[in-house]
Amino acid sequence: MLFKQQAWLRQKLLVLGSLAVGSLLYLVARVGSLDRLQPICPAEGRLGSTHGQAELPLRALQFKRGLLHEFRKGNSSKEQVRLHDLVQQLPKAIIIGVRKGGTRALLEMLNLHPAVVKASQEIHFFDNDENYAKGIEWYRKKMPFSYPQQITIEKSPAYFITEEVPERIYKMNASIKLLVIVREPTTRAISDYTQVLEGKERKNKTYHKFEKLAIDPSTCEVNTKYKAVRTSIYTKHLERWLKYFPIEQFHVVDGDRLITEPLPELQLVEKFLNLPPRISQYNLYFNATRGFYCLRFNIIFNKCLAGSKGRIHPEVDPSVITKLRKFFHPFNQKFYQITGRTLNWP
Ligand code: A3P
Repeated sequence: MLFKQQAWLRQKLLVLGSLAVGSLLYLVARVGSLDRLQPICPAEGRLGSTHGQAELPLRALQFKRGLLHEFRKGNSSKEQVRLHDLVQQLPKAIIIGVRKGGTRALLEMLNLHPAVVKASQEIHFFDNDENYAKGIEWYRKKMPFSYPQQITIEKSPAYFITEEVPERIYKMNASIKLLVIVREPTTRAISDYTQVLEGKERKNKTYHKFEKLAIDPSTCEVNTKYKAVRTSIYTKHLERWLKYFPIEQFHVVDGDRLITEPLPELQLVEKFLNLPPRISQYNLYFNATRGFYCLRFNIIFNKCLAGSKGRIHPEVDPSVITKLRKFFHPFNQKFYQITGRTLNWP
């Protein structure tokens, strides 16, 4: 009898113990996620249109991730949208390029900030004549739902190199903030080539070697007609943008540093966007298998970028690399001078 009672008591204690541990874990998870979401500061004085608005209520922030995800998937009624004051806002900041600079990583990492909402797809509104002809309302409707106090950011890397884009963006919003993420120009050109090469291989097509495209065989000089080379002459493109926007409206992100040390780069962007600093080391963890930093939103949800980001580059003849680096050098110097950001590229 006594033995039976002891067994019953042991079982009860076990159940109670599990419940206590479960509750504790739940609380830790909740505090963790609330901690991530809670500290958004009053948006007053930040990014123009948020001026004078009240603090984003905690309730709304708690809902933010899950709810916005549902809206993105289309699992929501108009009533819900109205109820939560959700709107589709034109971007207050655009990642205009550069292709293969780390534009996706930058967008995804900025989206860790509770006041930022990303447009998931590249919209190609300003660089594609057909899309542009559809008008600004079409563009706005492509934007994700967000709370009025949040800012929307989109990225379309082709904007940086497309002739018509600066004027078109200027016409939409002359005071927009422009983010340009760059990598060492030769590495970027090889990354660009690698992406095209992979596309060809997927279609069972052959493609030239990088060396053959980057160097003009008739002159043995750098082939400036090759798009991957031209895109890496950052200063040439930037100069076109400067006809419309003052340099203060641009922020240069070091794409090489975003790979190895993302947090300080993101903190500089937070500052540029006048956002309270909310992205922390907690949000970024190094994944040894991927060889890159991945994103942690909370104790439950984390993600790495797709496998198409971080491809293995083909080996390139060192003499071609040296030639390209020498070629880019004067353009890089000019770029540092204009932007005020020195990147110590070779
Ligand atoms: P590689 O594929 O050459 O390594 P974009 O998004 O503009 O196309 O840029 C792609 C580049 O982002 C990749 O180039 C990769 O190096 C870089 N990148 C930066 N941070 C990354 C991250 N956390 N995960 C994966 N790729 C990242």
